[in-house]
Amino acid sequence: MIICVLGSGGREHAICKTISLSSKISKIYCIPGNAGTQLLAKNIDLDIDNFEKILKFIKKAKVDLVIVGPEKPLVNGIVNFLENNGIKVFGPRKIPSQLEGSKTFTKNICKKYNIPTANFGIFDKKEDTINFLENSKFPIVIKADGLAAGKGVYISKNLSEAKEAVNEIFNGKFGEAKKILVEEFLKGEEMSFFVVCDGKNFKIFKTAQDHKRVNEGDEGKNTGGMGAYSPSGLINDSLEKKIINKIISPTLKAIDEMGEKYKGFLYAGLMILNNEPFLIEYNVRMGDPECQTILPLLKTDLIDIFIACCSENLENINLEWKDEKSLCIVLCSSGYPDKFTNNIKIDNLNNLKLNNNDFIFHAGTKIENNEIFSNGGRVLNFVSLSSSFKNSRERALKLINQLNWKNGFFRKDIGYKIIDK
Ligand code: AMP
Ligand code: GLY
Repeated sequence: MIICVLGSGGREHAICKTISLSSKISKIYCIPGNAGTQLLAKNIDLDIDNFEKILKFIKKAKVDLVIVGPEKPLVNGIVNFLENNGIKVFGPRKIPSQLEGSKTFTKNICKKYNIPTANFGIFDKKEDTINFLENSKFPIVIKADGLAAGKGVYISKNLSEAKEAVNEIFNGKFGEAKKILVEEFLKGEEMSFFVVCDGKNFKIFKTAQDHKRVNEGDEGKNTGGMGAYSPSGLINDSLEKKIINKIISPTLKAIDEMGEKYKGFLYAGLMILNNEPFLIEYNVRMGDPECQTILPLLKTDLIDIFIACCSENLENINLEWKDEKSLCIVLCSSGYPDKFTNNIKIDNLNNLKLNNNDFIFHAGTKIENNEIFSNGGRVLNFVSLSSSFKNSRERALKLINQLNWKNGFFRKDIGYKIIDK
């Protein structure tokens, strides 16, 4: 089969790497890809938002299956567009992608189907929002509706911080804001819960925990993710049942009752308090860096899973996993998530000796004349599997230290909640 993966992050490199292990693959393309995907696939330099050009390439290259990594093309309807042109695609269509694209879409489903989530109000006027806040308890959470690439969420400690957040959102900091969401602050520990769906059935994919804040001890600004580990230490049979029965199944029922089907990965961002799950948000894709952390644990052929999802045949696939602990540390460009410099050479990558349980997934990298340069805030993902999170972390740290990239920084405490407790 000829496969085309859309995206350019660590998630997409991990997908390319995992499908490259399948005997069913004859060729992989990645649009636009990075220096890591270039080693396994042919990178095609096309704009991921230009659906017409992507279609033209896919037809010319006789691609059998397209796998969409990031949320933006999904929310903008790339699956509908390609399917309407006769192309097989793994990923949700436009309306179900609103689960990530619009927080109010998701909140309205939660209300109708009684899905546990933070109490909330939706406002479309600044004055109404501020009136509501004047009578609220703090901390409180304020969110812009729509895709804000991990930003657009404020946790305000008091009224003046909250007012500033409301002003920034309505003044268009995250694009045109028609609606704003004010939410109760949930206490607890966060967990990422993944399922894969074929439109009729779903299977649990795996759990993980990521570290979104830039500094050690989970302090500082929000980022795309500084590291992750899988499985989550919070998961147990009774919690899993509650997540399925109270959150995942009612959501898929809601999509079904809209006359739509959910096909693809569904990522529930949960807050767990006293073994009870609350939905914080949905994403309609794999997480990044959770994908890089989880895929090395998968024993089942990933291509079989994608094909089964596209033919509503997931029921007949048995998902098998390695019984190991996976931990990922992200090496970032100095300055991230604020200003950073690109185009800094990364020497030494080829000198690192990886064993079978070590993986380096590229994110913001590019290749020029056989040399690798940084090309983004999150640059490389170091993943190790072993029988304990502690050993996995030590191994990943050892490899990062061996690389010794002078422009980089990383968190040394990934997994501290489970390792150092
Ligand atoms: P989101 O983009 O909705 O995932 O929010 C980003 C981050 O803000 C989450 O990963 C949580 O750490 C935090 N957050 C969002 N909503 C809440 C909430 N209702 N209570 C506590 N923390 C939240
Ligand atoms: N790791 C968070 C995300 O992928 O949204």
